[in-house]
Amino acid sequence: MTEVPDHLLERSRAARARLTGEGGDAPAGDSAAPAGAAVEKAPAAAAPVVAAAPEIEKAPEPVPPFVQAALDRKKVPSWAFFIVLMLPIWAIFYVGTLERPPVEGILTAGEGVYEGCAGCHGAGGGGGSGYALAGGEVAKTFPDAASHIWWVVNGSSDAGTPYGDPAREGGQRIALEFSGAQMPSFAEPLTSIELLEVVYYERVTHGELDADSEELHAIEHLVDHAEDFELPGHFEVGTTIEDIQLFIDMAMADLAGDA
Ligand code: HEC
Repeated sequence: MTEVPDHLLERSRAARARLTGEGGDAPAGDSAAPAGAAVEKAPAAAAPVVAAAPEIEKAPEPVPPFVQAALDRKKVPSWAFFIVLMLPIWAIFYVGTLERPPVEGILTAGEGVYEGCAGCHGAGGGGGSGYALAGGEVAKTFPDAASHIWWVVNGSSDAGTPYGDPAREGGQRIALEFSGAQMPSFAEPLTSIELLEVVYYERVTHGELDADSEELHAIEHLVDHAEDFELPGHFEVGTTIEDIQLFIDMAMADLAGDA
Protein backbone atom coordinates (compact mmCIF):
# COMPACT_ATOMS: atom_id res chain seq x y z
CA MET A 1 0.00 0.00 0.00
CA THR A 2 1.42 3.31 -1.06
CA GLU A 3 1.79 6.02 1.52
CA VAL A 4 0.21 9.26 0.40
CA PRO A 5 1.83 12.08 2.29
CA ASP A 6 -0.57 13.80 4.60
CA HIS A 7 -0.11 17.21 3.12
CA LEU A 8 -1.09 15.93 -0.34
CA LEU A 9 -4.22 14.35 1.08
CA GLU A 10 -4.98 17.59 2.77
CA ARG A 11 -4.56 19.48 -0.48
CA SER A 12 -6.84 17.14 -2.46
CA ARG A 13 -9.48 17.38 0.22
CA ALA A 14 -9.35 21.07 0.08
CA ALA A 15 -9.64 21.07 -3.73
CA ARG A 16 -12.61 18.79 -3.58
CA ALA A 17 -14.32 20.96 -1.10
CA ARG A 18 -13.80 24.01 -3.30
CA LEU A 19 -15.33 22.24 -6.36
CA THR A 20 -18.32 20.71 -4.61
CA GLY A 21 -19.55 22.85 -1.87
CA GLU A 22 -18.38 26.41 -2.24
CA GLY A 23 -20.91 28.66 -0.46
CA GLY A 24 -23.24 25.65 0.22
CA ASP A 25 -23.65 23.44 3.29
CA ALA A 26 -20.33 23.03 4.83
CA PRO A 27 -19.06 19.50 4.05
CA ALA A 28 -17.02 17.73 6.62
CA GLY A 29 -13.71 18.74 5.05
CA ASP A 30 -14.73 22.30 4.37
CA SER A 31 -13.76 23.78 7.69
CA ALA A 32 -10.39 22.17 7.31
CA ALA A 33 -9.89 23.67 3.85
CA PRO A 34 -9.32 27.28 4.80
CA ALA A 35 -7.30 26.09 7.73
CA GLY A 36 -5.20 24.01 5.33
CA ALA A 37 -4.81 26.94 3.00
CA ALA A 38 -3.72 29.07 5.88
CA VAL A 39 -1.25 26.44 6.94
CA GLU A 40 0.10 26.28 3.41
CA LYS A 41 0.38 30.02 3.10
CA ALA A 42 2.01 30.42 6.42
CA PRO A 43 5.48 29.20 5.39
CA ALA A 44 5.38 31.44 2.32
CA ALA A 45 4.51 34.43 4.49
CA ALA A 46 7.09 33.47 7.05
CA ALA A 47 9.81 33.21 4.44
CA PRO A 48 10.41 36.92 3.93
CA VAL A 49 10.45 37.43 7.69
CA VAL A 50 13.11 34.79 8.04
CA ALA A 51 14.98 36.26 5.12
CA ALA A 52 14.70 39.78 6.51
CA ALA A 53 15.81 38.85 9.99
CA PRO A 54 19.49 38.25 9.17
CA GLU A 55 19.64 41.58 7.37
CA ILE A 56 18.43 43.38 10.47
CA GLU A 57 20.92 41.60 12.64
CA LYS A 58 23.77 42.19 10.24
CA ALA A 59 23.24 45.93 9.90
CA PRO A 60 25.13 47.11 12.99
CA GLU A 61 28.10 44.89 12.32
CA PRO A 62 30.04 46.77 9.66
CA VAL A 63 30.65 50.24 11.18
CA PRO A 64 31.33 52.70 8.38
CA PRO A 65 34.85 54.10 8.55
CA PHE A 66 33.69 57.63 9.19
CA VAL A 67 31.60 56.47 12.14
CA GLN A 68 34.55 54.59 13.53
CA ALA A 69 36.71 57.67 13.09
CA ALA A 70 34.19 59.73 15.02
CA LEU A 71 34.09 57.15 17.79
CA ASP A 72 37.87 56.94 18.01
CA ARG A 73 38.43 60.69 18.06
CA LYS A 74 38.95 62.36 21.45
CA LYS A 75 36.05 64.77 21.44
CA VAL A 76 37.04 67.87 23.50
CA PRO A 77 40.69 68.47 24.34
CA SER A 78 41.12 69.06 28.05
CA TRP A 79 42.65 72.54 27.58
CA ALA A 80 39.41 73.67 25.95
CA PHE A 81 37.74 73.58 29.35
CA PHE A 82 40.34 76.01 30.64
CA ILE A 83 39.64 78.37 27.75
CA VAL A 84 35.91 78.23 28.40
CA LEU A 85 36.52 78.83 32.08
CA MET A 86 38.63 81.91 31.38
CA LEU A 87 36.18 83.50 28.92
CA PRO A 88 34.00 85.33 31.47
CA ILE A 89 37.08 86.62 33.26
CA TRP A 90 38.50 87.86 30.00
CA ALA A 91 35.13 89.44 29.17
CA ILE A 92 35.12 91.38 32.45
CA PHE A 93 38.59 92.77 31.77
CA TYR A 94 37.66 93.56 28.18
CA VAL A 95 34.52 95.47 29.18
CA GLY A 96 36.61 97.23 31.82
CA THR A 97 38.98 98.54 29.18
CA LEU A 98 36.04 99.73 27.10
CA GLU A 99 34.39 101.61 29.93
CA ARG A 100 37.56 103.14 31.28
CA PRO A 101 39.68 104.42 28.48
CA PRO A 102 43.20 105.22 29.66
CA VAL A 103 42.13 107.58 32.44
CA GLU A 104 41.75 110.81 30.54
CA GLY A 105 42.51 112.50 33.78
CA ILE A 106 40.81 114.11 36.69
CA LEU A 107 38.52 116.24 34.49
CA THR A 108 36.89 113.21 32.83
CA ALA A 109 36.58 111.47 36.17
CA GLY A 110 34.98 114.57 37.68
CA GLU A 111 32.56 114.83 34.78
CA GLY A 112 31.41 111.31 35.58
CA VAL A 113 30.87 112.16 39.25
CA TYR A 114 28.99 115.33 38.32
CA GLU A 115 26.28 113.21 36.67
CA GLY A 116 25.04 112.65 40.22
CA CYS A 117 24.74 116.40 40.76
CA ALA A 118 23.20 117.30 37.41
CA GLY A 119 19.69 116.39 38.59
CA CYS A 120 19.66 119.48 40.82
CA HIS A 121 22.25 121.72 39.18
CA GLY A 122 21.62 121.04 35.49
CA ALA A 123 23.83 119.08 33.12
CA GLY A 124 25.84 122.19 32.25
CA GLY A 125 25.71 123.74 35.73
CA GLY A 126 22.99 126.12 34.56
CA GLY A 127 21.31 125.97 37.94
CA GLY A 128 17.83 124.61 37.29
CA SER A 129 15.76 125.96 40.15
CA GLY A 130 18.84 127.06 42.13
CA TYR A 131 21.83 129.30 41.52
CA ALA A 132 23.85 128.74 38.37
CA LEU A 133 27.30 127.25 38.89
CA ALA A 134 28.34 127.93 35.32
CA GLY A 135 29.64 131.14 33.80
CA GLY A 136 32.22 131.50 36.56
CA GLU A 137 29.54 131.79 39.28
CA VAL A 138 30.72 128.95 41.49
CA ALA A 139 34.26 130.39 41.61
CA LYS A 140 32.80 133.67 42.90
CA THR A 141 30.97 131.83 45.68
CA PHE A 142 34.07 129.85 46.61
CA PRO A 143 37.20 131.80 45.67
CA ASP A 144 39.38 129.01 47.12
CA ALA A 145 39.10 125.26 46.48
CA ALA A 146 39.09 124.33 50.18
CA SER A 147 35.78 126.10 50.92
CA HIS A 148 34.23 124.61 47.77
CA ILE A 149 35.29 121.10 48.87
CA TRP A 150 34.06 121.83 52.40
CA TRP A 151 30.60 122.77 51.03
CA VAL A 152 30.21 119.55 49.04
CA VAL A 153 31.45 117.49 52.01
CA ASN A 154 29.03 119.01 54.50
CA GLY A 155 26.13 120.24 52.39
CA SER A 156 23.73 122.85 53.62
CA SER A 157 22.26 122.74 57.11
CA ASP A 158 19.29 125.01 56.61
CA ALA A 159 17.70 126.93 53.81
CA GLY A 160 18.22 130.62 54.44
CA THR A 161 21.74 130.19 55.89
CA PRO A 162 24.39 132.29 54.16
CA TYR A 163 27.34 130.38 52.70
CA GLY A 164 30.44 131.02 50.63
CA ASP A 165 32.41 134.25 50.33
CA PRO A 166 30.68 137.01 52.42
CA ALA A 167 32.25 139.60 50.10
CA ARG A 168 30.83 137.89 47.03
CA GLU A 169 30.21 140.20 44.12
CA GLY A 170 26.47 140.78 44.12
CA GLY A 171 26.01 139.65 47.72
CA GLN A 172 26.67 136.51 49.69
CA ARG A 173 24.85 133.32 48.67
CA ILE A 174 22.01 132.13 50.83
CA ALA A 175 21.23 128.43 50.91
CA LEU A 176 18.10 127.55 48.98
CA GLU A 177 15.95 124.48 48.60
CA PHE A 178 15.18 122.75 45.31
CA SER A 179 11.69 121.30 45.73
CA GLY A 180 12.22 120.64 49.41
CA ALA A 181 15.77 119.32 49.06
CA GLN A 182 18.80 121.16 50.38
CA MET A 183 22.34 120.70 49.18
CA PRO A 184 23.06 117.19 50.56
CA SER A 185 26.26 116.15 52.30
CA PHE A 186 28.37 114.02 49.96
CA ALA A 187 30.80 112.85 52.64
CA GLU A 188 29.29 109.38 52.62
CA PRO A 189 28.22 108.71 49.01
CA LEU A 190 31.46 110.00 47.49
CA THR A 191 35.00 108.88 48.27
CA SER A 192 37.41 111.67 49.05
CA ILE A 193 38.95 111.19 45.61
CA GLU A 194 35.58 111.42 43.81
CA LEU A 195 34.79 114.53 45.80
CA LEU A 196 38.07 116.18 44.79
CA GLU A 197 37.44 115.15 41.18
CA VAL A 198 33.96 116.70 41.01
CA VAL A 199 35.12 119.93 42.65
CA TYR A 200 38.04 120.09 40.19
CA TYR A 201 35.55 119.58 37.35
CA GLU A 202 33.19 122.30 38.61
CA ARG A 203 35.99 124.80 39.12
CA VAL A 204 37.41 124.27 35.62
CA THR A 205 34.20 123.97 33.59
CA HIS A 206 31.63 126.04 35.56
CA GLY A 207 34.05 128.22 37.48
CA GLU A 208 36.08 128.83 34.32
CA LEU A 209 39.31 128.75 36.31
CA ASP A 210 42.65 128.03 34.69
CA ALA A 211 43.50 124.32 35.03
CA ASP A 212 47.14 125.40 35.07
CA SER A 213 46.68 127.26 38.34
CA GLU A 214 48.79 126.16 41.30
CA GLU A 215 45.70 125.17 43.30
CA LEU A 216 44.14 122.95 40.64
CA HIS A 217 47.50 121.28 40.04
CA ALA A 218 47.63 120.59 43.75
CA ILE A 219 44.20 118.91 43.73
CA GLU A 220 45.22 116.76 40.78
CA HIS A 221 48.44 115.85 42.59
CA LEU A 222 46.48 114.97 45.71
CA VAL A 223 44.21 112.64 43.74
CA ASP A 224 47.14 110.98 41.96
CA HIS A 225 49.08 110.41 45.20
CA ALA A 226 46.26 110.06 47.72
CA GLU A 227 48.11 107.32 49.66
CA ASP A 228 51.32 109.32 49.97
CA PHE A 229 49.36 112.18 51.50
CA GLU A 230 47.37 109.81 53.71
CA LEU A 231 44.12 111.14 52.35
CA PRO A 232 41.24 109.40 54.19
CA GLY A 233 38.92 107.25 52.06
CA HIS A 234 36.06 109.62 52.91
CA PHE A 235 35.97 113.15 54.26
CA GLU A 236 33.86 112.97 57.40
CA VAL A 237 30.93 115.28 58.02
CA GLY A 238 32.30 118.12 60.13
CA THR A 239 35.64 118.24 58.32
CA THR A 240 36.67 121.92 58.43
CA ILE A 241 37.93 124.17 55.68
CA GLU A 242 41.29 124.25 57.54
CA ASP A 243 41.54 120.42 57.51
CA ILE A 244 41.01 120.42 53.77
CA GLN A 245 43.38 123.35 53.22
CA LEU A 246 46.12 121.32 54.96
CA PHE A 247 46.00 118.62 52.27
CA ILE A 248 46.06 121.21 49.49
CA ASP A 249 49.04 122.95 51.14
CA MET A 250 50.93 119.62 51.42
CA ALA A 251 50.33 118.86 47.77
CA MET A 252 51.40 122.38 46.77
CA ALA A 253 54.57 122.11 48.85
CA ASP A 254 55.32 118.72 47.29
CA LEU A 255 54.90 120.13 43.79
CA ALA A 256 57.07 123.14 44.65
CA GLY A 257 59.76 120.81 46.01
CA ASP A 258 59.69 118.70 42.84
CA ALA A 259 60.09 121.70 40.58
C1 HEC B 1 19.12 117.35 45.94
C2 HEC B 1 19.60 118.42 45.12
C3 HEC B 1 21.08 118.64 45.04
C4 HEC B 1 22.04 117.78 44.61
C5 HEC B 1 21.88 116.33 44.16
C6 HEC B 1 23.28 118.49 44.62
N1 HEC B 1 23.09 119.76 45.06
FE1 HEC B 1 24.48 121.21 45.17
N2 HEC B 1 23.09 122.50 45.86
C7 HEC B 1 21.77 122.21 46.14
C8 HEC B 1 21.15 123.37 46.77
C9 HEC B 1 19.71 123.43 47.22
C10 HEC B 1 22.13 124.36 46.84
C11 HEC B 1 22.02 125.76 47.45
C12 HEC B 1 21.27 126.70 46.60
C13 HEC B 1 21.79 126.90 45.22
O1 HEC B 1 22.99 126.74 44.90
O2 HEC B 1 20.96 127.26 44.42
C14 HEC B 1 23.32 123.80 46.24
C15 HEC B 1 24.50 124.49 46.07
C16 HEC B 1 25.66 123.99 45.55
C17 HEC B 1 26.88 124.75 45.32
C18 HEC B 1 27.07 126.24 45.55
C19 HEC B 1 26.79 126.95 44.26
C20 HEC B 1 26.92 128.45 44.41
O3 HEC B 1 27.71 129.02 43.66
O4 HEC B 1 26.19 129.01 45.24
C21 HEC B 1 27.81 123.88 44.85
C22 HEC B 1 29.23 124.16 44.47
C23 HEC B 1 27.16 122.58 44.78
N3 HEC B 1 25.85 122.68 45.19
C24 HEC B 1 27.79 121.43 44.35
C25 HEC B 1 27.16 120.21 44.20
C26 HEC B 1 27.85 119.02 43.80
C27 HEC B 1 29.31 118.90 43.47
C28 HEC B 1 26.93 118.03 43.77
C29 HEC B 1 27.11 116.58 43.41
C30 HEC B 1 28.20 115.87 44.00
C31 HEC B 1 25.66 118.62 44.17
N4 HEC B 1 25.85 119.93 44.42
C32 HEC B 1 24.48 117.94 44.23
C33 HEC B 1 21.16 121.02 45.85
C34 HEC B 1 21.76 119.88 45.34
